[in-house]
Amino acid sequence: MTPKDAIKTRAGIDRTWWKEAVVYQIYPKSFNDTDGDGIGDLRGIERRVDYLDDLGVDAVWLCPVYESPQADNGYDISDYRSINDAYGDMDDWRRLLSTLHERDIRLIMDLVVNHTSDEHEWFQRSRQGDSEFKDYYIWRDGTNNGGDPPNNWESVFGGSAWTYDEVRGQWYLHLFDEKQPDLNWRNPDVRESVYEMMNWWLEKGIDGFRMDVINLISKTNGLPDGDEDGGLTGAEHFFNGPNIHDYLREMRDEVLSDESLLTVGETPGAGVDDARTYVGPDGDGLSMVFQFEHVSFDHDEHKWDAGDWSLVEFKQIIAKWQNGLADEGWNSLYLNNHDQPRMVSRFGDDSTYREESAKLLGTLTHTLQGTPFVYQGEELGMTNASFASPDELRDVEAVNFVEEALEQGDAASYDDVRDAVEYVGRDNARTPMQWSDAPDAGFTDGEPWIDCNSNYETVNVEHARADENSVWHYYQDLIELRHDRDVLVYGAFDLLVPNHPAIFAYTRTLGDERGLVVLNFGTDPVEFVVPDSITLDELELALANTDVPTAPRPAFELGPYEAHVYLTP
Ligand code: NOJ
Repeated sequence: MTPKDAIKTRAGIDRTWWKEAVVYQIYPKSFNDTDGDGIGDLRGIERRVDYLDDLGVDAVWLCPVYESPQADNGYDISDYRSINDAYGDMDDWRRLLSTLHERDIRLIMDLVVNHTSDEHEWFQRSRQGDSEFKDYYIWRDGTNNGGDPPNNWESVFGGSAWTYDEVRGQWYLHLFDEKQPDLNWRNPDVRESVYEMMNWWLEKGIDGFRMDVINLISKTNGLPDGDEDGGLTGAEHFFNGPNIHDYLREMRDEVLSDESLLTVGETPGAGVDDARTYVGPDGDGLSMVFQFEHVSFDHDEHKWDAGDWSLVEFKQIIAKWQNGLADEGWNSLYLNNHDQPRMVSRFGDDSTYREESAKLLGTLTHTLQGTPFVYQGEELGMTNASFASPDELRDVEAVNFVEEALEQGDAASYDDVRDAVEYVGRDNARTPMQWSDAPDAGFTDGEPWIDCNSNYETVNVEHARADENSVWHYYQDLIELRHDRDVLVYGAFDLLVPNHPAIFAYTRTLGDERGLVVLNFGTDPVEFVVPDSITLDELELALANTDVPTAPRPAFELGPYEAHVYLTP
């Protein structure tokens, strides 16, 4: 093995820290509360830096902690340069940064610049028609003598993407909630203000940005009506819009020229070909993107019609992205985050085989080519929650969905939509981090802003750390293995048995280093016959989520949700 401080791998590949890193995503509102207000805070994160260090992660992506009225839990920013009171203040933030850096853990901040809050000073002055800010947002007169929205675009959170503002006497565009007006990226002053703000954060010593819906910032000139036969009406005019590359390249030149920064663009609706235009030196220079295909294929155009998926299709999607970004670009690897249901409830089995399937899914994300993102609680095998009544929901998207379904008569009562909410709703991932079996999972001494998942008495950090067979310890092993073995980071990916309905198997190859990963995505035992192309003698078991022999045999059986990783020694 080549030492990690060497500039190149043994196979001659230039090392890049963020390709070798495992990133841990923190949703601050639900991570750890130290002042008893029921809302997580920066001091709470600081107190858990040792926890992150023990797990072995290399970077933290911190979801928004900026000043915000919290209409969308901080994705509605009213001041980019200050910290929301509930989370603490700038001194707390500075201390968190230095505590992380002391442990060699980098910090990636969330950048939300498709929109601001309507309470941002820019919007307040824009709606007043202040000459400096009047074109900071996308304002239009309505149609039908001003009484109807300027076009038929829909908001991601339901309803029209336009709201009439009495103060200005015009409509403004908001692709998300009405409290999240879209910035007008055609205005060079907007872009300059954003770049200044980004540089301000970089000067504080952060290590990169996760860029919220970054491929939505450019809208088709003239804002034409969208096609009503597709999914979200208007999407073809704002997903991967006409000037997106000009904007991102300008941002790279003005802010992101330091290639050691990790930049990950959230890009809904981007295919592999689009992704290649965003990432890498031949694209717009982003390190990687968060693509959505593998977290959308189990629902139709409307995310709430969800539930069916096949492993064969899942494998096809993953392989397409692995191969599509193998030579140009880089993948992010995730199966859940604060916007997606818990992966073990979606792609695994959150009852009988909760631990096995959580480990299997973790094996997948840590042995593909790309940078793994671990969402808080994933390392415990946290599951989707139960929301018995709509009063228990907190997420604006879910609340709107339920309200609309009832209003439009698509549902007679909440019970008709409860399954959808509990399968795909975002609140599933936002319940408090489960630290212990103390009241409210040890998350807070107060009343949590959202109820804890009722399984916290058994699924929690304290129990997991005390049990050497837990999901937590398995994640620790996975992270260590990935740190040790370049083949798992840089190795080429080749899918095996693409049409097998239960087995997800692939090889990784880097020079003379090889890996074989075999995963049984089901509850029935299955036999895996190793293809002739693989030389078995050179492989040894590196990790498995159950007791298995150390050498692979030409054919072997895998039990429910069994995962095996074999590597050349
Ligand atoms: C994506 C974020 O991840 C999500 O939480 C948010 O609601 C939307 N972008 C709007 O900012």
